[in-house]
Amino acid sequence: MGMSPTVKHLARRNEISLRTRMIGEQMAEQDYQEVLRDIEASARERHWPIVGPKKGALLVELVRQYKPRRILELGALVGYSSTLMSANLEPGGKVVSIEIDPVNAELTRETQRRAGVADRCEVHVGSALDVIPQLAGPWDMAFIDAAKEQYLAYLQAVEPFLAPGAVIVADNIKIAPDAIAPYLAYVRHSSRYRSSYHDFGNDGMEVSTFVG
Ligand SMILES: C[S@@+](CC[C@H](N)C(=O)[O-])C[C@H]1O[C@@H](n2cnc3c(N)ncnc32)[C@H](O)[C@@H]1O
Repeated sequence: MGMSPTVKHLARRNEISLRTRMIGEQMAEQDYQEVLRDIEASARERHWPIVGPKKGALLVELVRQYKPRRILELGALVGYSSTLMSANLEPGGKVVSIEIDPVNAELTRETQRRAGVADRCEVHVGSALDVIPQLAGPWDMAFIDAAKEQYLAYLQAVEPFLAPGAVIVADNIKIAPDAIAPYLAYVRHSSRYRSSYHDFGNDGMEVSTFVG
């Protein structure tokens, strides 16, 4: 699946800013919340599709509740959600992200480094469907936020590697309802999942627990 025009545009702009910053000195480590606030400000200005603070609060709640040791993230962009989740992990936990765009992947690593969470994060470059089978599970949590029309294919690729009781969060349920419809039908009607919808006004998230 190719990148959307918005993401291509974003990647080009990111590439310029990344290269500029890579020439200069590396930025110092900051408090992770400060790093996230910087990204939120850029996202508002440049319309970056980050999960943001409201939906992010649900991710944090789930990470604190389920205490996953290994989280798989599909679609990292500039590292907002992976930084947020990793900062709330129990010691020893890890967030492993797959990002198709190498510039976004590098920006994600830079965000994680600045936020002081790089030691509990891993970023793989490639298409999620190609990379998922190359990674060792089990996954205790998955955050699906890459190509909307591929959500069901992602879940089916990840399923053999899900730990019983794993929680799967799918973003942008309201923003891309047609593309995500097959995914929703699957998690809501399969006996392998218990699924619930969380509404955030202009968007929503589906949270599904893998029964096994
Ligand atoms: C909505 S953004 C992710 C936002 C991020 N999760 C956050 O909240 O901070 C979607 C990302 O998915 C990536 N992407 C799109 N198709 C992909 C694919 N097939 N495999 C992996 N990443 C993909 C895009 O390059 C983009 O960076």
